[in-house]
Amino acid sequence: MTYKICLLPGDGIGPEVIASAKDVLSALPIHWDFIECGIGFGEYQRSNSPLPDSTLQAIRHASAALFGAVTTPPNLPNYFSPVVRMRQSLDLYANLRPCKSIPHESSKANIDLLIVRENTEGLYSGIERIEDNGDKAITERVVTRKGSERIIRKAFDLAQQTKRKTVHVVHKANVLRQTCGLFRAVALEIAKEYPAIQMIEMLVDTCAMELIRAPEQFEVIVTTNLFGDILSDEACMFVGGLGVAASGNIGANVAVFEPVHGSAPPLVGTGKANPIATFLAASMMLDYLNEAESATRLRRAVSACIAAKESTPDLGGNLSTSEVTKKVIERINY
Ligand code: NAI
Ligand code: MG
Repeated sequence: MTYKICLLPGDGIGPEVIASAKDVLSALPIHWDFIECGIGFGEYQRSNSPLPDSTLQAIRHASAALFGAVTTPPNLPNYFSPVVRMRQSLDLYANLRPCKSIPHESSKANIDLLIVRENTEGLYSGIERIEDNGDKAITERVVTRKGSERIIRKAFDLAQQTKRKTVHVVHKANVLRQTCGLFRAVALEIAKEYPAIQMIEMLVDTCAMELIRAPEQFEVIVTTNLFGDILSDEACMFVGGLGVAASGNIGANVAVFEPVHGSAPPLVGTGKANPIATFLAASMMLDYLNEAESATRLRRAVSACIAAKESTPDLGGNLSTSEVTKKVIERINY
């Protein structure tokens, strides 16, 4: 079996971390057919579009895609964020953010949480308007039964597959009675299909507080778009921060995996970009491709490097991007 992987290096440190991930994936006993496609500001300067149709087509036809990061210039008229556009165009409805303890002093212990964020609707539906001559701004929050069903089912399925016992359904139905009310009602229905998993409801403000107080209580959190955006950034700080935070965007037959960080312009060419977030995104991609053994092998190699302080400066080490990559490959080959 050969997997066709669409690599999307993007801008800034994106090409550096994607090149490292390509080397690490190539060290595993799997056949890869890598194709590279353009995305981001550099691509816009070349082709006049930050997300050409040819890139979207290539992602659709690949087994999966691995994305680095893009630079989004502020104040450029007619420019659009290719990240948001890609998620919408490919209907990547589930944003998965695992938060797992790493063997490092900046990480809390005993955390193994998966945040499942709805990625296509909610407050990010893009329906906005101005009224009263500019004195009133309105954003519509759209929650549908279909959108809620598929994200909540994804959360329960993932809980079942990973042998977790609880799913926290996070909402604010006491105030947002219609939108969160529908999300909650759908969750209560779907939970009945999974008798082995306990559904726990939590209001989003309580959840933000509980994440700080006792993050280890959570196994899976499922929630709407904006709440998930905020809670997942909050949660990744307990487990090493941006240098190690990975995510996946999953649709019906398409998936794009990426580090959470951006293009970090000041780090370009310094060798200080931590490639580990991208390696962990690659390990999520391996899980998605049902290559669980290789996924585990990669995660173990990464953990061993972190524990041995074989890391870039953000994790207190003194190795460069390519040196960390070499160390991870050595440990894969042990
Ligand atoms: P950023 O994530 O690029 O950087 C934030 C901080 O984290 C900086 O101090 C940076 O040096 C550090 N950092 C980021 N990645 C790192 C890595 N791999 N290793 C070590 N340190 C790392 O966010 P910032 O500075 O707000 O944005 C820079 C550009 O990235 C902007 O144009 C922004 O629009 C874009 N961006 C793109 C994202 C994406 O492509 N998904 C996500 C976030 C921002
Ligand atoms: Mg975010």
